[in-house]
Amino acid sequence: MDSSMEQNILVTGGAGFIGTHTVVKLLKEGFKVSIIDNLDNSVLEAVDRVRELVGPNLSKKLEFNLGDLRNKEDIEKLFSKQRFDAVIHFAALKGVGESVGIPRRYYDNNLVGTINLYETMSKYNCKMMVFSSSATVYGEPKKIPACVEDFQLKALNPYGRTKLFLEEIARDIHRAEPEWRIVLLRYFNPVGAHESGRIGEDPKGIPNNLMPYIQQVAVGRQPELNVYGHDYPTKDGSAVRDYIHVMDLADGHIAALRKLFTDPKIGCTAYNLGTGRGTSVLEMVAAFEKASGKKIPMKVCPRRPGDSTVVYASTEKAEKELGWKAKYGVDEMCRDQWNWTNNNPWGYQKKL
Ligand code: UD1
Repeated sequence: MDSSMEQNILVTGGAGFIGTHTVVKLLKEGFKVSIIDNLDNSVLEAVDRVRELVGPNLSKKLEFNLGDLRNKEDIEKLFSKQRFDAVIHFAALKGVGESVGIPRRYYDNNLVGTINLYETMSKYNCKMMVFSSSATVYGEPKKIPACVEDFQLKALNPYGRTKLFLEEIARDIHRAEPEWRIVLLRYFNPVGAHESGRIGEDPKGIPNNLMPYIQQVAVGRQPELNVYGHDYPTKDGSAVRDYIHVMDLADGHIAALRKLFTDPKIGCTAYNLGTGRGTSVLEMVAAFEKASGKKIPMKVCPRRPGDSTVVYASTEKAEKELGWKAKYGVDEMCRDQWNWTNNNPWGYQKKL
């Protein structure tokens, strides 16, 4: 029997975009999963669809708990009734603009929630964690072409600072208590959806990020895409990012977990999860138009404040140490993003 059959994973924020896709993979790999989510930016319907995707048998190994990491009792309740082998910690707020306006909300959710989680994990002697970090910790990378994990880190806004502080907190905890094993995963730009088209990204309100915005234009929920910047020193004047398929990202979490379980020397280590390839905004729009057969009307706008010109990942470290490499390219990302949107133009909401 696969040893992972016995392993029980707590997934915070498991009802969200990256969370749901990772939970599907975890269950299929034979792990037991408990989700804790406050449904702040997600819905229970997403968890129901995860159950549908994995089928009734694997679904029995999935438990959903409504709870908020800011309430220590909510976490305590989980740990007091079962043993967790590791925690994958997604739960966080992630709106850059919003974080500038209401920083206290970001520090409360992201920092206080995580500190509560560490305290309870420590109390119950569960000292393995996969943490959702972000390429945002590279700030505006000076050295291009590719971000390498040992670059100097810098945050440009309160959201980014929560991720950077939480990385530092993780490093401090490991320094003080070397038995902790923590993998910090720095996501580049997660896009796409499960190939079934049953789960995908469904942001509340007007999307900030490029692909959710494009998907809403494609189904008529937004009239046109604002392209922020046409005068960047890039091949077509638009900014370049490293888009990564969410199913590749989900695989990256499985690889990180296996690393935690098998490498006693892992300590607290950061890995980029990206493809290593840069794609411009205009190239992304063209790929989406090709995949969907829809025209995406565009308006060229000034640069968005705080945006970098070119950001993409060096993928060598994850390849070498986690044995993980992204499989999908931009065409597959757009195909699956369109499949999700076309089948669910209003996301998880039922009505038009
Ligand atoms: C953004 C956040 C980053 C966060 C990440 C999460 C900022 C400055 N950075 O990264 O901290 O970790 O999301 O996924 O917000 N674009 C348009 N029109 C749009 C939306 C975006 O042209 O309507 C452009 C942007 O200017 C950028 C590219 O598309 O060049 C990607 O934008 P986005 O999806 O918001 O991601 P990042 O800015 O890379």
